[in-house]
This record gives sequence, C-alpha cells and structure tokens, in this order.
Amino acid sequence: MKHSFVALKNISHIFSNGFQVVADVSLTISGGEFVALVGRSGVGKSTLLRLMAGLFVPTQGEVMLDNQPAHHTQEPVGLVFQKDNLLPWRTVQGNVHLPLEIQGQSQKSTHQRIITLLDLVGLAGYAHHYPAQLSGGMAQRVALARALVHEPSLLLLDEPFGALDALTREKMGQELLRIWQLLPVTVCMVTHSIPEAVLLADRVLVLNGQPGTITADISIDLPRPRTLEMEGTSEFYGYAAAIRAAIE
Ligand SMILES: Nc1ncnc2c1ncn2[C@@H]1O[C@H](COP(=O)(O)OP(=O)(O)O)[C@@H](O)[C@H]1O
Ligand SMILES: [Mg+2]
Repeated sequence: MKHSFVALKNISHIFSNGFQVVADVSLTISGGEFVALVGRSGVGKSTLLRLMAGLFVPTQGEVMLDNQPAHHTQEPVGLVFQKDNLLPWRTVQGNVHLPLEIQGQSQKSTHQRIITLLDLVGLAGYAHHYPAQLSGGMAQRVALARALVHEPSLLLLDEPFGALDALTREKMGQELLRIWQLLPVTVCMVTHSIPEAVLLADRVLVLNGQPGTITADISIDLPRPRTLEMEGTSEFYGYAAAIRAAIE
C-alpha cells in the first residue's frame, strides 16, 4: 500500500476562542511509512494528530485518509498518548478489550486476538495483571496494544515515550519498530527527541512558527533494521544536526 494514505491539503485551524494554531499545512504520508513530527512546544503537533484522527474538522483545507475525509472515514485509527490512560480497576486484558467492548464485541469472542496482541507487544503472561502492577514501559505497551486492537491502518503516537526513563525509552523505540515491521500500519509519531525521530522514522517533518506550519521534510536514508549503534555514525549525526537547525 504505497499510495499517499494520509493527505493534508492546505490545512488551517482556528480554535473557537479565535486562536489560529496551524496555517496552510500540507503533507502526505504513504501507506506503511513511519513519519516523525517534531517542533517546539505549542507549535500545533498534537492538534495535527487530532486532525489526522478526524477528532477535529479543520477550519480550512482537507484531511484525507485513504481518499476519504478523516472525520467521515470508517478507516480505524489507533492513538497513543504520553499518559497511558489505563483504567486502574481493569486488568491488562480488560483495558485492551475496552475499544472492542464499546463496539459491542464480547471478551469471549476477542480473547484469542487479545492474547496474540499481548504477545506481540511483549506482554505474554500479563493478561490478568492490573495497571498498578506494571512498570511505566509495560503500561505503555498495554496502551499500544489497546490502540492496535481494532487493527488500525494508521497509528498516531503523541510523545508516547516522553514519560519513560532513557533506557526504557530506547527499548520501546526498538519495540515499536519491530511491531511496525510486522503489521500493515502507517505511523505518525510526535516526539521531542531528535535522536528518536532519526532512529525510527523514514521521514522527519519539522513544524515551526505561530501559527504552526511545516518548514522542513527530511528523509532519513539510514538502512533498516535500525539499531542503537547507528547513533554513533556521522550519517546519523548529520541528520540530527539538520533537524536541530530546522527547528527555529
Ligand atoms: N481547544 C483549544 N482551544 C484553544 N487553544 C488550544 C486548544 N488546544 C490547543 N490549543 C493551543 O494551541 C497551541 C498548540 O497546541 P498543541 O497542538 O497541543 O501543540 P504541541 O502539541 O505542539 O505542543 C497551544 O498554544 C495550545 O494552548
Ligand atoms: Mg503536544
């Protein structure tokens, strides 16, 4: 699926209080691509993800998912935030099941799918644990499984590892790549970490200004699979420097 799966065409968005958050943003993401979105705090990154998810309708322009307007489409979208937002009174399995339950699917009919998914995110054997029994990294794995449970074709991640310690964060980045390579899913991830963006993404988009607009689109031509050792190479350093320079 190498067509342009996500297409934003001349998007501007003004909140109800009159604040214009983004202006004239155009971008496309191909099916199966992994794109990172970086930029200063408040520049409109989370807003762009919400527009892609169809949660907001832009004041101007069009957001298309697989050639359908994002706010109308049947195309399932998965969302992961910095905070895991797990329900503390539900088990891991119960949390992952929640989106399916809302669609009226019983635990019994989806049990095997959830067990397979927990296995995929590295949580085999944790189905009956409660969120309080998990580390931060494990809780984000549950949040990832919950986002994937309805088999989304687009996965949107908003600083998903921002609350984790550096080593767990590195590990989760590698895990995300492993999962992305196994699934037919397109990824757009907001991150504050330039090295994380370079290590994970095919392309890094830089959002700048007030209102925010995309001012750089940098292809990362490092081979895959990506490994942490690549961070030591001059090629990697060159990409990181180019992105840093592009953030005003
Ligand atoms: N619902 C809203 N109404 C008004 N302003 C908002 C709303 N949501 C976000 N903003 C403002 O829009 C700007 C961009 O927000 P956001 O997209 O969260 O930026 P980022 O994720 O890049 O930090 C911020 O200044 C924020 O205060
Ligand atoms: Mg944000």
